[in-house]
Order: sequence, then C-alpha cells, then structure tokens
Amino acid sequence: MDALKGGAAAIDSSAMFKLSYGLFVLTAREDGRDNGCIINTAAQITSSPLMVSVAVNKAGFTHGMILRTGGFALSVLSESAPFSLFRRFGFQSGKDTDKFAGLAYSDRTASGARFIPEHTNAIIAAKVAQTAGFPTHTVFFADVTQALTLSAERSATYQYYFDSIKPKPPQESKKGFVCKVCGYVYEGVSLPKDFVCPLCRHGAADFEPVKQ
Ligand SMILES: Cc1cc2nc3c(=O)[nH]c(=O)nc-3n(C[C@H](O)[C@H](O)[C@H](O)COP(=O)(O)O)c2cc1C
Repeated sequence: MDALKGGAAAIDSSAMFKLSYGLFVLTAREDGRDNGCIINTAAQITSSPLMVSVAVNKAGFTHGMILRTGGFALSVLSESAPFSLFRRFGFQSGKDTDKFAGLAYSDRTASGARFIPEHTNAIIAAKVAQTAGFPTHTVFFADVTQALTLSAERSATYQYYFDSIKPKPPQESKKGFVCKVCGYVYEGVSLPKDFVCPLCRHGAADFEPVKQ
C-alpha cells in the first residue's frame, strides 16, 4: 500500500483527526465564578464505577478551576450547536472574559457547575478521583455524580464540526497557515516551529498552508 511507504515509524498527525471524538462544553465553578471551555477529549473510562476522563490544557482557565475544586460538568453538544457557541467557549479564555455573560439561561448541575441547556443532549457532572500530568495537559479521571439525557438530538462529532459547523476559511489569496483545529489563520510565509495557536492552543503540527 502506497500509504505505508513512509514506514512503520512515520507519523502523519492528520491520522489523529480520524478518531471519532464528540464535542463538549466543560464547565467548572470556583468561589462563585463560573467558566467553561470546549473540549473534544471527554470519554467514559469504566461503567462500574461509572467514570469519565477529560484532557485539559494547563494554559486554560478551566484547568486551574478543576484542579483546585475537584469538580466539573460536561454538556454534550448536539448537531444543532451553532459556531457562536464554539467561539464563546473555545476561542476566548475565562482569564479575560465572563463567558456566561449575556446568556438567557442559568441552569446548574446538582454539584453547582453551570451547564448549557440548549444544543446539548446530555449533561454529566463528575468529581475528580485521580489526575495524570503531561507537559501541556492534565487528564482528570472522575466519578460521575449526575448524568441526565436532555434530548434525542444526535451528538455533534469532531468530524461534524469540521464539515458542518465551522465556517470554511475565506477563499482569498492570503499567504499563511491555517489551524486545522479551529480555523485560525497565521499570516506569513513561514510558520515558527514553536508557534501555538492563540485561539485553541494547538501547536505548529496542526497547521497547514492556506490553500489558494
Ligand atoms: C473544537 C475544539 C476542541 C478543543 N478541545 C480541547 C480539549 O480537548 N482540551 C482543552 O484543554 N482545550 C480544548 N480546546 C481549546 C479550549 O476550548 C480553548 O483553549 C479555550 O479558550 C480555553 O478556555 P479557558 O481558558 O477559559 O479554559 C478545544 C477548542 C476547540 C475549538
């Protein structure tokens, strides 16, 4: 197979995008302050006990809140989720803004964290049981304390987000590199190796040249 010519040691990072992730708003509450961020890394670990895991970037505001409080909630996004929801929770930090400002609802899980009642088909609240630290992320392993189905709508997958939710980059003749995760465009002829996307914090390996 031609695709295998690179050899066993070859790493094509775009293969990672074939993993069928879901999309979630991960929320936390600390000292009366609410925040949340978009993640694709929530997964069930075991059913007895019922446990989930999330991988959270250490540079984000939500990370510290979960580390300090030991609690979080997941809103499982459905296909009707608009891009504005991703922009609100995924492309800005709670360090700089109140991401819940101006929202018409104020629903909370039993543990107190807010959740997103619209465009969400389920909510899961969890209490952290263990953590595993990695250079950029912490993986939180947590016991489920509340789980509720809100609608029969289909869950949004990462693939669905790329195909049907995320606006396509404008077809202009800009030279640069586009982030395959969130669509941010770096303008320039070469992308620094240590470049980190200012919106979603993925590294240079997740950028590709803007197609002309
Ligand atoms: C589609 C998508 C998937 C993302 N997945 C993750 C993820 O799994 N873990 C993570 O920590 N950040 C992820 N992010 C980035 C955060 O949502 C983003 O950095 C956010 O601004 C952090 O907000 P905070 O600083 O308020 O926590 C993702 C963003 C997008 C758009």
